[in-house]
Amino acid sequence: MTGTATEHLDADPQGIARAAALLRAGANVAFPTETVYGLGGDARSESAVAGIYAAKGRPAHNPLIVHVADIAAAEALVDLGDEGRDLAQAFWPGPLTIVAPMRPGTGIAAAVAAGKDTLAVRVPVHPVARAVLASCGRPVAAPSANRSGRVSPTSAAHVRADLDGRIAAVLDGGPCDVGLESTILAVNTGVRLLRPGAIPAGAIEAALGKPLLRGPAEMSAPVAPGLLASHYAPRAAVRLNAETTRPGEVLLGFGPVPGSAANLSASGDLHEAARNLFSLLRELDRPGVDVIAVSPIPQTGLGAAINDRLRRAAAPRG
Ligand code: TXA
Ligand code: MG
Repeated sequence: MTGTATEHLDADPQGIARAAALLRAGANVAFPTETVYGLGGDARSESAVAGIYAAKGRPAHNPLIVHVADIAAAEALVDLGDEGRDLAQAFWPGPLTIVAPMRPGTGIAAAVAAGKDTLAVRVPVHPVARAVLASCGRPVAAPSANRSGRVSPTSAAHVRADLDGRIAAVLDGGPCDVGLESTILAVNTGVRLLRPGAIPAGAIEAALGKPLLRGPAEMSAPVAPGLLASHYAPRAAVRLNAETTRPGEVLLGFGPVPGSAANLSASGDLHEAARNLFSLLRELDRPGVDVIAVSPIPQTGLGAAINDRLRRAAAPRG
């Protein structure tokens, strides 16, 4: 799609129908979810999936999440198992991704799972995402709609900044509510937290009635650790737990801190901070700013996922 103009679609019935038609035709369309914008492609089309990897510059070994309309559609693709089904019933539709053994003969393009025998599935709750999935009538593979390694997009403008001219269309549903990606659980061997996210681990443990196993964040074994340690990265460096700023730094505050260039939440509200995180990282990442210094964020509730993203943004660049 490089060089082709990217259509801007409003999230009205016409825009949603156009987005679904483009997806059915094998094109790549960015659409809003409650977490971040996703870059969609028909999960059964090899070329649509190849287009996702190409537009993002995503390494071929990093598998994609498949978005479906409901639990039944997910169960047609994976074996959720008893615990997976319970979790699906508790949290779907919503910002939970479940990694489970893939069923044979689903027709899902091989590149989606990147050679794994598991598949990540999710049923989003955002009304526009749900309307697109319903109208499209097929599973939609969708990673976050950013260039690989960059900050995830929480608005159509963010998507454009990264992918304009590289994808067929952006469906504009306004800013994302949660602002952080889904929580990812693997249910093939116990229930393991692969990525902290929009649903705090404590809420999942309460529903499950037992503690989660903790695993390697996101991608596991075969990947060189350095490769994914650095992720969600603005161009400026990021310094964590900053109490004061040094020359060349701007402060991204949390709580009532003086002298901040921007504040995640002046009142110290973690939901507000999550919603603002990626947008403010993009905003502060401007010429003349060498370092974005970030106030300490408590590790409770959504704070765990916020700190996870900030640690990756601050990790040494490969
Ligand atoms: O909220 C979200 O999850 C957003 C929206 C668009 O749904 N999507 C998203 O996708 O964050 P992405 O591709 O940026 O992150 C998905 C993560 C990747 O780190 C990938 O490695 C992991 O999920 N993943 C996908 N399939 C997997 C699998 N079979 N086993 C383990 N990890 C998997
Ligand atoms: Mg991503």
